Amino acid sequence: MARRSIGRRMRIDPWSSQQSTDYARLRDEFGISPFDLAGRMPDAPALFRRGVIFGHRGFEHVLRAIEQREPWAVLTGLMPSGPMHFGHKLVIDQVKYYQKLGADITLTVADIESYETRGIPLTRGRQIALDEYLDNYLALGLADERLQVYFQSERWQVKDLAWKLGRKVTMSTMESIYGFTGETNVGHVMAPLVQVGDILHVQLPEFGGPRPTVVPVGVDQDPHIRLTRDLAQAFRWYNVTLHDEAKLGRVVAVFVKGLEGNERTTATEAPEKLLRAAERVLKKLGYLDITVNEAYGALYVRGGADDVLRIDAELARAESRMGGYGFIAPAATYHRFMAGLTGGKMSSSKPETHISLRDDPKAAQKKLSGALTGGRTTAEEQRKLGAECGKCMVYETYVYHLVPEDDVLQHVWDEGTSGKLLCGDCKKSYALPRVAALMTQVADTRKDARARVEAVLARSREAADRAAGVRP
Ligand code: TRP
Repeated sequence: MARRSIGRRMRIDPWSSQQSTDYARLRDEFGISPFDLAGRMPDAPALFRRGVIFGHRGFEHVLRAIEQREPWAVLTGLMPSGPMHFGHKLVIDQVKYYQKLGADITLTVADIESYETRGIPLTRGRQIALDEYLDNYLALGLADERLQVYFQSERWQVKDLAWKLGRKVTMSTMESIYGFTGETNVGHVMAPLVQVGDILHVQLPEFGGPRPTVVPVGVDQDPHIRLTRDLAQAFRWYNVTLHDEAKLGRVVAVFVKGLEGNERTTATEAPEKLLRAAERVLKKLGYLDITVNEAYGALYVRGGADDVLRIDAELARAESRMGGYGFIAPAATYHRFMAGLTGGKMSSSKPETHISLRDDPKAAQKKLSGALTGGRTTAEEQRKLGAECGKCMVYETYVYHLVPEDDVLQHVWDEGTSGKLLCGDCKKSYALPRVAALMTQVADTRKDARARVEAVLARSREAADRAAGVRP
């Protein structure tokens, strides 16, 4: 099983219930970029503006697709266990926003992972997903269009990729990423590769082809993301980077890599042929100053320094047309975990720490009424010192869910910390009415969500079966 950390080196363990919340340190240690891109996103929701989404890898590809109105995709997944609560809602809120922006959405139910890592039988995992999660997704406002939902165990293209891409992963890599040892069962070792298959299969031609993809997740998933991005790159034919060349200056360098190991190609493409193919693609795009160095297997584009992403994406698509995978390295965003209502960790198995989406409005209000606040021991003291809103779990639900309006949130903070607004009034004015309205709406929309879920699942199955028909 995975170990937590060795010496001073941090390790992220996706299967541990204890997660570090030192996000700045996690970010620095693992080379995650700070998320400061909300300004470039159309009508970025509160989660993006407030630092709840605190980091990313490679999100620039997605931003570019949004700006250029090119196709892009969202893929994320859930491991079925326990009731769906406000912590899980976070991801769906992001997915909803992306769907409105025009992305196609694919959601996976990680029934294989759940089986391999927690011993939950496949049928039970699926049942949990149906009973606890999927109808809530739709009830929260996810649209049925441009949405696919599938079970890992049912989509063979995903499992197929796990095997094929596994060719370039060694046990040493799995040990160093996950802390696996000789005692780890092989099913568990395979689970991350199935997740790699989840994330990359949406770029197979039969599922929409190469396009920027974002995977919105908690930072505990970062090891899987690193593995996925490495493998996406390892199976590329072209390596596209920005370079400073002595003679040419700042250029986009395209290197042809080996083709070996790529199941999708007949491997007859010689490196020179690929160089010339890249040159043709780039000329067509309007890049005229191209230097080819056959001996190095390299090609340099002058005047393309601002276009690395475009060039990378176009060459990925060219690769795909020629029979390669052409994966564009998938992006990920990382969100903070919500704290529990009682101040500790939010936990699925402890109802008092979370609001479940199946709590009725009264129960949800009751939980918020009893939550840990940043209030002082007496009203008098609070008027004098002000409340500690930064430590308040009710305020936490405002930030994440209940108060999307920045000016209202600021007002609550100002009045709260200055001692003008006391906890009772704060809850009465904001928390209680807002949580009741939300819960009522979710419950109402959920009434006919089950039938919609069945339809989405059926349609997703058909799409994958059709895809099987066009398999090369
Ligand atoms: N491992 C994820 C979890 O523990 C679930 C998951 C499976 C997933 N496949 C995925 C998440 C693909 C994002 C993308 O919750």
